[in-house]
Amino acid sequence: MKVRTTVEPMRAAARVARLGGLRIGLVPTMGALHEGHLSLVRAAKAQCEAVVVSIFVNPLQFGPNEDLAKYPRTFERDCELLRAEDVDFVFAPAVEEIYPEKLSTYVTVELSDRLCGRSRPGHFRGVTTVVAKLFNIVQPHMAFFGQKDAAQVAIIRRMVRDLNFAVEIIACPIVREPDGLAMSSRNAYLKPQERKSALVLHRALQAIEEGFRQGERRAKALTESGKQMIVEEPGVELDYLEIVDPDSLEAVEMVSRTALAAVGAFVGTTRLIDNVLLDPE
Ligand code: PAJ
Repeated sequence: MKVRTTVEPMRAAARVARLGGLRIGLVPTMGALHEGHLSLVRAAKAQCEAVVVSIFVNPLQFGPNEDLAKYPRTFERDCELLRAEDVDFVFAPAVEEIYPEKLSTYVTVELSDRLCGRSRPGHFRGVTTVVAKLFNIVQPHMAFFGQKDAAQVAIIRRMVRDLNFAVEIIACPIVREPDGLAMSSRNAYLKPQERKSALVLHRALQAIEEGFRQGERRAKALTESGKQMIVEEPGVELDYLEIVDPDSLEAVEMVSRTALAAVGAFVGTTRLIDNVLLDPE
């Protein structure tokens, strides 16, 4: 496994792989790797002969009052985990390497004000801008993202379509802890009591799934009891619980085709998200 920390050597290595006829798979991450990230790496290994994992805590996607400074950084351990998965390249640039000067160019997708984007202005602009840069540096054939961040997947797919990036976006299923909590690097922030309270996100989504299975199709009726569960959970503050179209992220009133039930909430000071797909078929 080769570690590259600067843009040109990463670009050169990827170019050599591509010219050698290898399919390049990119897995963008912010490190603090867990089984969710590793599931993306395994999907990439299964479909590509050269796998690049980027580890970059991207300041551009953090708001001024968010957790950039305290975001977990576990680089040595991350590298061990990736070596065990037989990853070919780790791209781990410093902030100055990716942002040597203040940008004058940003990528903004006009879905960026939905779901998390509403309470995190500028977040998705930060994501799409850095992902566009990573795509340009690595020029992967395929890039792997987690369905855990469903809005991120929708927004990146839209960017790829709108700007003709030659990369196929693969969305991989949510990996959960045995008790149902969606894995997240931010779960490390949770105190023991918060860790228990955090389960309410998954329980609320399960309640929605159950209502859906029993034939309820009205979004408002489906989300109502889930919202109630979250509001009643001490120490948890609901940001949103919505049923939206998985591509446009627009709210739907009736679930007549596949829809996304997505939740975002603060557990203590930790922001967590989760979602499920509702499929009438
Ligand atoms: P990060 O939060 O590190 O996540 C990296 C990738 O892992 C994302 O595609 C995310 O959806 C996926 N992932 C996280 N938890 C998961 C889980 N429980 N199951 C499945 N996949 C999971 O998302 C980002 O970083 C950044 O926004 C990034 C795309 C790297 C741009 O900076």
